[in-house]
Amino acid sequence: MRHHHGTAALLLSLITTVTGVLGAHSLATRQSYTSDVVRGVNLGGWLVSEEWITPSLYSSTGTSDEWHLCNELGKNKCSQKLKTHWKSFFTRNDFVDIQAAGLNAVRIPLGYWAVDRRVWEPYVNGQYPYLIQAVQWAKELGLSVLIDLHGAPGSQNGQDNSGLIGPVRFPSNSSNAARSLYVLNNLTEEFSKGIYGGVVTGIELLNEPRLGDNSTDDFSMDELKLFYTDATKGIRAANDADTINVTIHDAFYGPAYWADYDPLKSTSSAPADLLTVDTHQYYAFDGLENLSHSEILDDVCNISKLLKQQTSSTGIPYTLVGEFSLETGNAPNTTSSSQNNEDDQVRRTWFRLLFEAQIAAYSPNAPGQSSIGWFFWTWKTEYDIDTWSYRRGVAHQYIPSDVSNASSFVYTVLDNGCIDMSTGHDNYTAPAHVAAAGGRAGGAYGATVWLPVMVLLVLAGCVF
Ligand SMILES: *[C@@H]1O[C@H](CO)[C@@H](O)[C@H](O)[C@H]1NC(C)=O
Ligand SMILES: *[C@@H]1O[C@H](CO)[C@@H](O)[C@H](O)[C@H]1NC(C)=O
Ligand SMILES: *[C@@H]1O[C@H](CO)[C@@H](O)[C@H](O)[C@H]1NC(C)=O
Ligand SMILES: *[C@@H]1O[C@H](CO)[C@@H](O)[C@H](O)[C@H]1NC(C)=O
Ligand SMILES: *[C@@H]1O[C@H](CO)[C@@H](O)[C@H](O)[C@H]1NC(C)=O
Ligand SMILES: *[C@@H]1O[C@H](CO)[C@@H](O)[C@H](O)[C@H]1NC(C)=O
Ligand SMILES: *[C@@H]1O[C@H](CO)[C@@H](O)[C@H](O)[C@H]1NC(C)=O
Ligand SMILES: *[C@@H]1O[C@H](CO)[C@@H](O)[C@H](O)[C@H]1NC(C)=O
Ligand SMILES: *[C@@H]1O[C@H](CO)[C@@H](O)[C@H](O)[C@H]1NC(C)=O
Repeated sequence: MRHHHGTAALLLSLITTVTGVLGAHSLATRQSYTSDVVRGVNLGGWLVSEEWITPSLYSSTGTSDEWHLCNELGKNKCSQKLKTHWKSFFTRNDFVDIQAAGLNAVRIPLGYWAVDRRVWEPYVNGQYPYLIQAVQWAKELGLSVLIDLHGAPGSQNGQDNSGLIGPVRFPSNSSNAARSLYVLNNLTEEFSKGIYGGVVTGIELLNEPRLGDNSTDDFSMDELKLFYTDATKGIRAANDADTINVTIHDAFYGPAYWADYDPLKSTSSAPADLLTVDTHQYYAFDGLENLSHSEILDDVCNISKLLKQQTSSTGIPYTLVGEFSLETGNAPNTTSSSQNNEDDQVRRTWFRLLFEAQIAAYSPNAPGQSSIGWFFWTWKTEYDIDTWSYRRGVAHQYIPSDVSNASSFVYTVLDNGCIDMSTGHDNYTAPAHVAAAGGRAGGAYGATVWLPVMVLLVLAGCVF
């Protein structure tokens, strides 16, 4: 996650330009097409740790990314700490809760060092068995999996989520691309195996690559596309049965930029088969921090109009919103849950609207539309920050308890996927109080506080 100032603004302006030409007008209906919609959450901060998601993992150090964490602790200690984290932060219970919430997919961020670590790199590995376990749980519970290369050698965006804060070194040494191709090939070969039952339906080549402003040592679009081409060739060759989609991140250029994109052809009049685009829609961070609520909803509505068009007419590839949240205006507070104001009814009322508006925009309501679904960032955080923790949203009722059941939603959706602001908007108010207490969850990331919620969700899951 995290937008770069310039690219976020660029994305907004691109969307504005494209939607300006479209202008759909339509009648109010409930969203009814739900058969193949991807409704997912990210397992953020797990196999690639992020300080703001699990601050206690980092608190004894002065570090803010996994590279430096392990560099400071040394391999043995880091390995111990991370193993405890991998074992406890996501367990089978989380998968049960995810399914009980009506979700049908998970996106799993992974760092290259889980597969291809050099001795001189401070990273430790041992993540892979947990990835396999996660895929097996997903299979048991009927969830599909998008595995995403979140951290590439050299770093593709210079941010904490890539494992290494600093310059974007990915393009500076061709061995970085070669190593990434090796990792993607490993993931394809592994998860094409029959024992996984085809639940890994997508592999994302590179999360949030940050292209430069075209000076000499930049990561250029040409370099990115070359990487996308090589990686697609590798995945297609290693997946004869064609069960795994190639997912490309839009590099913050917006889905429309990728119209008719086929990584295996120099020109094309239609997007490639088995290709999806991942676009991240955040209203937090630089450049967007001052948008008003109605501007945000207007922008969400514009994205909807863009993605509700038929791929066969716009050429925009099938598109997943691989990350979005309820945060607006500022970055998360990494160190506490003080920003969660549990009894702020106005805040929860707004969250419900923002959530429903976004999933309506990011889901198709008829076959053939570009949008095919979404993944919220993220299922949970150590403090269950209200704007970033899906499970807190469910517990506190600002996210529907069964997101697969559109008739339980509050807001009416127009055919263009926008919320009908003339009706429900003005007469929904969140409950005055919510059951669960706020604050820091105890123990190993909160088993105590969340146990009652989990039990309820499991019970609810049994009824359906
Ligand atoms: C949404 O699209 C309309 C029509 O093109 C445009 O006037 C408006 O500025 C857009 N809103 C945002 C937030 O981009
Ligand atoms: C490129 O990276 C590899 C390891 O990934 C390293 O062995 C090699 O020295 C690097 N080459 C240059 C020119 O930095
Ligand atoms: C992929 O890499 C992991 C971790 O090194 C290894 O355990 C696994 O066997 C590899 N799978 C394939 C198909 O190469
Ligand atoms: C960089 O600038 C050159 C010259 O203006 C242009 O041809 C090239 O397409 C640009 N590359 C990118 C990635 O924008
Ligand atoms: C896989 O890609 C195809 C486009 O070829 C798309 O129709 C389908 O929905 C994608 N599946 C998933 C799970 O993303
Ligand atoms: C947002 O508002 C603050 C305070 O007025 C201002 O300093 C900042 O520059 C604004 N940001 C943008 C992107 O307009
Ligand atoms: C973040 O939390 C700390 C500790 O409770 C608090 O002192 C600080 O003001 C918070 N920062 C923001 C931006 O809310
Ligand atoms: C869906 O939600 C509606 C409205 O809350 C409820 O009446 C219905 O029983 C739910 N359907 C299922 C299958 O849970
Ligand atoms: C309240 O919302 C419902 C649909 O959600 C709508 O039918 C009704 O007209 C709304 N009432 C007012 C006063 O806006």
